[in-house]
Amino acid sequence: MPEYPTFEYDVLVIGAGGAGLRAAIEASAAGVRVGLICKSLLGKAHTVMAEGGIAAALSTTDSRDNWKVHFADTMRGGQYINNWRMAELHAKEAPACVRELEAWGAVFDRTTDGKILQRNFGGHKFPRLAHVGDRTGLEMIRTLQDHGIHQGIEVHMECTVVSLLKDGERVAGAFGYERERGHFLLFKAKAIVLATGGVGRAYKITSNSWEYTGDGQALAYNAGADLQDMEFVQFHPTGMIWPPSVAGILVTEGVRGEGGVLRNSVGKRFMFDDIPDAYKAQTADNELEGWEYCQGNKTARRPPELLTRDHVARCIMREVKAGRGSPHGGVYLDIAWIKEKLPNAAEHIKRKLPSMYHQFKQLADIDITTTPMEVGPTTHYIMGGVRVHAETQMSTVPGLFAAGECGAGLHGANRLGGNSLSDLLVFGKRAGRYAAEFAKQHPPGRINEDQLQSVARWALQPFERGALRESNAEGPYRIQHELQDKMQDLVGIVRTEAEMMRALDEITSLRERASRVGVEGNREYNTGWHTALDLANLLTVSEAITRAAIERKESRGGHFREDYPDKVKNVGELNIVIRRGRDGEMQIVREKIPEMPGELKQVIEEQR
Ligand code: FUM
Repeated sequence: MPEYPTFEYDVLVIGAGGAGLRAAIEASAAGVRVGLICKSLLGKAHTVMAEGGIAAALSTTDSRDNWKVHFADTMRGGQYINNWRMAELHAKEAPACVRELEAWGAVFDRTTDGKILQRNFGGHKFPRLAHVGDRTGLEMIRTLQDHGIHQGIEVHMECTVVSLLKDGERVAGAFGYERERGHFLLFKAKAIVLATGGVGRAYKITSNSWEYTGDGQALAYNAGADLQDMEFVQFHPTGMIWPPSVAGILVTEGVRGEGGVLRNSVGKRFMFDDIPDAYKAQTADNELEGWEYCQGNKTARRPPELLTRDHVARCIMREVKAGRGSPHGGVYLDIAWIKEKLPNAAEHIKRKLPSMYHQFKQLADIDITTTPMEVGPTTHYIMGGVRVHAETQMSTVPGLFAAGECGAGLHGANRLGGNSLSDLLVFGKRAGRYAAEFAKQHPPGRINEDQLQSVARWALQPFERGALRESNAEGPYRIQHELQDKMQDLVGIVRTEAEMMRALDEITSLRERASRVGVEGNREYNTGWHTALDLANLLTVSEAITRAAIERKESRGGHFREDYPDKVKNVGELNIVIRRGRDGEMQIVREKIPEMPGELKQVIEEQR
């Protein structure tokens, strides 16, 4: 067997965004040896795209808030197919996690009396998002990174894992390559935490950068772990749409939290036209009340722009389809209007939303203090992912854990903004703790050399085909772009059976073409080769999303079907699980959600 540079850890964390860093810190604090793999440079993670804040019932800005309200909001937002135990743990543990981050040096915006300031966000009953302007995710990564590098964690940057290695049923290690020189690396580990984030690059318009190709979900699936809720993809309502080179870049919900409103081409605030029954009692029915809510008036109800993301995204699409969109196919997000209300509005906007101000100035030549932004939905997040145990975050494969966006359960059918940052703190910490515990209780697994060799051969095949210049070999980029187009058009915000069946056929044919993909050149920083390998993961998660979406014959949260526009009570309240069958085919299993304990049901009733 060739000698690969080999690293041995008790806990290997794959992915170095907020969840991965938090898991690595916790595992290391438990006294075990920890390795941390990042696909790009340390600090570059989609976590920074959660700009507007961390949701946690600190009740610093509104004393009526507490874990029960946060729990009920999260369950309502997720349309009651969330893992209720995860939602409970999350709501109870998030405040302490935020304070811990503060103790490690995170610099939050403050109330006048020096407490952590919290802002309004969609679907949260009270101002709940602890924030740092509109750069909260960035501050979180900075803090975790500063804290983590002093813990003795070994970091492998610019490294991609292509396969997990197993010893019988349990996980034993991972095999990957360093992107710069293309050398293979072998990682032996007693426990592995997947924290690779999402799948945004399966779609054409996305807030995700190039790293987010569903690696963790696909690695877990290939290793025999269950995935769940893959049909639930979150289209954040407000991404940039113009100029085309920046389409998809996030425009934080914080803009709406600070009083920004959505208007169509005739200047109408169309969000007032459709307020779901579940939110009627909490939503303002006139513009003045909505503004007063944003100004902290405790008796006012929130503006309809702060309804949940799934709903706002669909309302935007409705306006565009009806011909009331903006010139480039979106709607207008207007924060400049607050100058009618605040004497120092321009300064206020620049202080509360500094990144948005610079982003639009530099990328679109628009001054958001005077001019509305053109925005439209962008693929932002996947609620589904690796099925995990609520307390430990262990997947259905012993020794394999998942946390953050890569794991599933907390958010159900739709995630509330800000719940991702608290998710990755609460469950990153838990995954790190229980992975360390698993590592302490188990000896190292044995590396199966046949598996290793077959993965290495598979990973090098694109070079062989490129070198042979096989007449039917093609490059990876075209296949990736075609996949993104198909997912965008056929498995997007509004879905139908016929379109998704077409998507499945397309994925099958793209998979066949991907098996013949060829690349040229050598292994040193060969992005064509990297893309060829990423393609396998993108195809796996795209198929999982599509199959699960076909199976769910109703509309719920982020999954909207034109052919089944209603939610089906008692029938839709289940999780769709995706599992690799013995024949290698994708299997679909409907899993009943365990009954919620009476005391949690009561919490939900009290908060209705
Ligand atoms: O809009 C935002 O700032 C995104 C936040 C999130 O996805 O949690």
